[in-house]
Amino acid sequence: MALPQRSHLAKHWNLDPECVFLNHGSFGATPVKIREEQQKWNDLLEDEPVRFYEDLAMGFMEDARNALAEMLHCNADDLALVENATSGVNTVLRSLKFHQGDEILVPDHAYQACRNAIDFVAQRWGATVVTVNIPFPIESPQVVLDTVMAGVSKRTVLAMIDTVTSPTGLRMPFEQLVEQLEAKGVAVLLDAAHGIGMVPLSLDALGASYTTSNCHKWICAPKGSAFLHVRNDLQHLIHPLTISHGMTFPLGDTTRFRHEFDWTGTRDLSAACSIPATIDYVGNMVEGGWPAIMQHNHDVVIEGRNIICERLGIEAPCPDDMIACIATLELPEGEDTGIPLHEPDPLHKVLQDKYGIQVPVWSWESPKGRYIRISAQLYNHVDEYHYLADALATEFDIEQYQERIA
Ligand SMILES: Cc1ncc(COP(=O)(O)O)c(C=O)c1O
Repeated sequence: MALPQRSHLAKHWNLDPECVFLNHGSFGATPVKIREEQQKWNDLLEDEPVRFYEDLAMGFMEDARNALAEMLHCNADDLALVENATSGVNTVLRSLKFHQGDEILVPDHAYQACRNAIDFVAQRWGATVVTVNIPFPIESPQVVLDTVMAGVSKRTVLAMIDTVTSPTGLRMPFEQLVEQLEAKGVAVLLDAAHGIGMVPLSLDALGASYTTSNCHKWICAPKGSAFLHVRNDLQHLIHPLTISHGMTFPLGDTTRFRHEFDWTGTRDLSAACSIPATIDYVGNMVEGGWPAIMQHNHDVVIEGRNIICERLGIEAPCPDDMIACIATLELPEGEDTGIPLHEPDPLHKVLQDKYGIQVPVWSWESPKGRYIRISAQLYNHVDEYHYLADALATEFDIEQYQERIA
């Protein structure tokens, strides 16, 4: 099969021309100009390292936080720049104190690395992890709300909620969840790894206790750029994973939170420094800026999902409004591949080796199934989903598949 075309905006990226890249969701992809921008920051650093770290870095970090704050509708001082969402989640969980019997609530669709962090911390403090099972396929956001809220007890102190779930690609009704959970005194740790650039975020209005999001996914910033937002009244509770000079540095006119997070040892700041240029550059690729980009990617992924569903003769597992820019479908032999999450699914390899398609395929324990997840970013074209649908139709006995899921 001839490789499908990409969109006219793919010229901004340097993606492998032999690859049909339908997995923006895992690690993002950074435009060429932004990779050059990052190199400029590296050059500036290495031209005079002492000047960079001692005189300039704080100002650049402030610029990055200001650019993020404008997009996130929040106070720049409530943001800390971290390397990735996993670090953001760990920063919160490992700062907080729990009591024996406290309950930490988490849906079964949570990202495994973050779930691991919850289990680690719960074990350390003698807290209980309460897992709520959200069905998939699912009929409406109300099912999520009802299921999560039914898991709350008098002992629930924290809930980790995704903006968009990783294995099932569900856009959670996180705004309502945050409102209802926080109103009950349950602090929400919002895992918005798929957040900024994928779904509109107004953090002050949202009111979540803690929010972390990757910049290297949906705004296409360089790898290792993410933020943690901590609500102002909770900042005294949260410390970086790495304790450094900030703990004792004279306060001056700033906060301990700022001091502690602004210096966590010598590290590569080039990705974080590239955030303002990224927001500006990618945001200007489409008329209408970021809201238009999010809508465009949503529309493309819905179209892609429809193309595959139609080709395989299956129903979409959730309504369109529970999708942002990634979409998951269940595959044949969903229940009995027996392949653990960390082992590659043979279909992933077939799609990659035989068709040149990069798309995740995995088995998930709960909700149990074998899933494929497509992404849509500005460089994608609907032809790519037709191509994937043809490949899937070739690899599966469609009639048998349809009988199984009927
Ligand atoms: C929901 C969710 N949380 C956390 C992460 C972790 O992101 P990172 O590896 O950048 O820390 C991911 C990555 O895909 C994710 O999907």
